[in-house]
Amino acid sequence: MADLSINFAGIKAPNPFWLASAPPTNSGYQVMKAFDQGWGGAVWKTLGVPVVNVSSRYGGMNYRESRMVGFNNIELITDRPLKDNLKEIEEVKKHFPDHAVIASLMVESREEWHQIIRDCENAGADGLELNFGCPHGMCERGMGSAVGQEPEVLKTIVSWVKEVAQTPVIVKLTPNITDVTEPAVAAKEGNGDAISLINTIQSLMGVDLDNFVCYPNVDGASTNGGYCGPAVKPIALNMIKSCAQHPDVNLPISGIGGIENWRDAVEHILLGAGCVQVCTAVMHYGFGIIREMIPGIDRYMDEKGFKTIDEMVGKALPNTKTWENLNLKYKVVADINEDKCIQCQLCYIACEDGAHQAIGLPDEDSRVPYIIEENCVGCNLCAIVCPVEGCITMERKDDGSQSITWKERTAKGDIPTTFNDPLAGGIGHWIPEPIEALKKGKK
Ligand SMILES: Cc1cc2nc3c(=O)[nH]c(=O)nc-3n(C[C@H](O)[C@H](O)[C@H](O)COP(=O)(O)O)c2cc1C
Ligand code: SF4
Ligand code: SF4
Repeated sequence: MADLSINFAGIKAPNPFWLASAPPTNSGYQVMKAFDQGWGGAVWKTLGVPVVNVSSRYGGMNYRESRMVGFNNIELITDRPLKDNLKEIEEVKKHFPDHAVIASLMVESREEWHQIIRDCENAGADGLELNFGCPHGMCERGMGSAVGQEPEVLKTIVSWVKEVAQTPVIVKLTPNITDVTEPAVAAKEGNGDAISLINTIQSLMGVDLDNFVCYPNVDGASTNGGYCGPAVKPIALNMIKSCAQHPDVNLPISGIGGIENWRDAVEHILLGAGCVQVCTAVMHYGFGIIREMIPGIDRYMDEKGFKTIDEMVGKALPNTKTWENLNLKYKVVADINEDKCIQCQLCYIACEDGAHQAIGLPDEDSRVPYIIEENCVGCNLCAIVCPVEGCITMERKDDGSQSITWKERTAKGDIPTTFNDPLAGGIGHWIPEPIEALKKGKK
């Protein structure tokens, strides 16, 4: 069995699976229950001056049969008194001394930061997470993402925190910013020990068509909230990658966003996360999902020959490049497996109307479409829309002997530079005449 234990920026935990700061870490009862089931760490629901919440406060994005593909909330930080939370942190640490308990914090003044840090560390917290990410409610009061969006302010507050913190300081970043590496660099400059991302994405979940009120409805009105869950994983992965690759960040990363199973977690780790945090999946399915996550990652690590989590961190980063460094000579085309095809013709419609008119329909005898290889640009669309896994595959057509990137072509002056440049990539590619569209419609 692989060694799942981690030392994340000086915080030790039996495994890299932590609960994110959110309702599942609202109380000692919940955190103890989670640790008992196998979670390695928990970032406590953000502590500060207790708030007053609204009702209702969540919105769900359902897609066809799948519920909570995305999730949104307008909840604030903890509404419980600090002393109750501190008492429970102390109790959790007594029962689980080897698990990681991180105090998530959000206050305003330097004095408040100093006081709450001392209180949490006295209660036994193993680390601190600074919530500079909350994109609703708290930001209207100058906290949360209002700080995360201002690198200079963020840096100042991190340095206040570091004046007194005895435990590692994780800076939690907001995705509601053009370039997430700017606050990440500021976290480093402020002397932070690690970063975590992403917090939720500013969003409106939808509008009730009958009463013109967005979800969630609070007495006939609503407000923008924070989006999370499976739908945000691609955004999280990209931001984690950006921070992991940035030469001036160079901090351990706790990956958050859309993690539901061990595979999602491994993806975060391969792109640079040293541990991961989970919120929505636990709110949907409960703490028990950890029972699949631990054996899953363990099996994967054994198969791949990874002995520790550290060995996996960032393994996909060298293969994640800027566009200009991709090989323009690499060429794939679609291939339909006739035996697997259920003849739905979704691939035909997608390619015909949404791509490159590279799929044909046969005559009466069959309904299995065929690929017109010379028209196929290898975009993947048909393979993505095909409902049968593995029915459309992308087959390599170049022999692998040649490689040239946009960057290399640019250096050679071998790129289109004028509107009608003979070097345009689409020249020579068959496109039907516009009038053909009308003839086809009449058939
Ligand atoms: C209802 C709810 C409340 C949350 N409260 C907090 C909070 O108090 N502090 C915080 O840092 N993040 C909070 N978050 C954000 C999560 O910690 C996490 O960053 C985000 O949900 C993305 O992870 P996920 O896709 O696994 O849900 C909250 C999220 C939800 C859904
Ligand atoms: S989408 Fe897939 S299953 Fe449907 S016709 Fe095309 S190849 Fe066959
Ligand atoms: S890969 Fe793209 S261009 Fe090729 S057949 Fe499929 S949808 Fe059409």
